[in-house]
Amino acid sequence: MKLLTLALALTLTLTGRDISEAAPHHGHDSAGYVKVAEDGKGFTRNGEPYLIRGANYWQGMNLGADECSGGDRHRLEKEMKLLVNMGINNLRVMASVEGPDDQPVRIRPSLMYAPGEYNEGVFQGLDYLLDAMGRHGLTAVMTLNNYWQWSGGFAQYVAWIDKNQTAYPFPSENEGWDEFTKYSARFYNDTEIYEEAQSMWRKHIETVISRRNTINGKIYRDDPVIMSWQLANEPQEGPLSWFEETSAFIKDLAPNHLVSAGLESKLDQYDFNRAHTPKDIDYTTCHLWVENWEIYDPSNESSIEDAMTYADDYVHSRAQWAAELNKPIVMEEFGMARDAWIKPGDEDFKYDPETPTAHKDRYYKGIFDNIVTLAKKGQFSGSNFWAYAGLGRATDYPNQYGMVWVADPPHEKRGWYSVYDKDTTVKVIEDYNAQLKALEEK
Ligand SMILES: *[C@@H]1O[C@H](CO)[C@@H](O)[C@H](O)[C@H]1NC(C)=O
Ligand SMILES: *[C@@H]1O[C@H](CO)[C@@H](O)[C@H](O)[C@H]1NC(C)=O
Ligand SMILES: *[C@@H]1O[C@H](CO)[C@@H](O)[C@H](O)[C@H]1NC(C)=O
Repeated sequence: MKLLTLALALTLTLTGRDISEAAPHHGHDSAGYVKVAEDGKGFTRNGEPYLIRGANYWQGMNLGADECSGGDRHRLEKEMKLLVNMGINNLRVMASVEGPDDQPVRIRPSLMYAPGEYNEGVFQGLDYLLDAMGRHGLTAVMTLNNYWQWSGGFAQYVAWIDKNQTAYPFPSENEGWDEFTKYSARFYNDTEIYEEAQSMWRKHIETVISRRNTINGKIYRDDPVIMSWQLANEPQEGPLSWFEETSAFIKDLAPNHLVSAGLESKLDQYDFNRAHTPKDIDYTTCHLWVENWEIYDPSNESSIEDAMTYADDYVHSRAQWAAELNKPIVMEEFGMARDAWIKPGDEDFKYDPETPTAHKDRYYKGIFDNIVTLAKKGQFSGSNFWAYAGLGRATDYPNQYGMVWVADPPHEKRGWYSVYDKDTTVKVIEDYNAQLKALEEK
């Protein structure tokens, strides 16, 4: 490799040609890392505009593990091809899952089953995923923690210190959320355990960022496949100092990568600014959940109009907030159930892979149209839909760990928000990706 480069350089020198002319037209300094554009109005990669044509694929690490560790690399490889065919260039994935593995409704097996103790099979799943993404030209958003319980997350760190997890966000959908939310928030709000919880987590952050990929030998810190390290999935009203200090800590470990907060941005501009103002938070994010926030009712045909109006306003207002901070914005979560209004009263219909997705397709297109319009003006940088289930089906048998790898995390009803390879939604996503791609190439 080295010899060849030298030979080439010599040839070029001898023939009198400027080496920079012969080099690929991107600068060596950028070397494939996704960067924020100098004017703050978007991203670049290799000196070219870069828009996020993304999907959520949180199960990627576990799917990338070998079969003994609950993975399915054969399926992962096929899904990578399908994603690329759809025009996807970015996946938001987990780079953390806390155990122990005997706790209810979480991803199993976990990556870190006890503080500082790793399941190497699962870690190699992350290696495999990143390597596969590199081969397919994709970039990754790496989620380092979770406010919610389905991957362990904040509550598990609190429980490790407490030695007693008393709060779970169930048994029923509406019970236990308040108690759980308070428990989870202790991770960054309880001064008595703050230091211990943060230092336990920071050890994980260091471990992941400094890991050497067992498949391709790259250290994660030096891998341009990684676009961004994300503090957590949906941190709720965390202290400003936590956003500042953690983002600075990560930036120090991985100066070539971006850092993001993972905020839903559902509350208000004050909340948005608290998470996104710190100088080491490179870009802003928002999530939109019309059914969960009770704007949309999948069993009511006309409530789609409410969802459309709400989404228009949401995308524009968050774009405006981001513009005021002069940072890019990505809508990194949004989803909709299948057409339950076709059979009102049959709640389970919305989870069935056979049920059509007319509302969902219209809703996706509405959001995409808004993003494309704003992206043309440098006011939006793309999205990650929630979420890609690919070849999995809600009706599949669970594997030896009790997992079905669709796109709905273990605490949610299988099939609720999954996008399958055969769904008509795929075409809507393809069309949008093609529009963004055309904008990148303009
Ligand atoms: C766990 O916490 C609950 C509620 O505070 C308490 O009732 C219970 O005794 C605790 N269990 C242990 C093993 O400490
Ligand atoms: C955390 O504490 C802050 C005050 O420092 C408070 O505003 C916020 O609501 C708390 N977060 C949660 C989720 O309880
Ligand atoms: C269905 O949604 C529409 C639009 O929001 C609303 O006016 C109507 O009351 C809803 N119907 C039912 C039965 O909830």
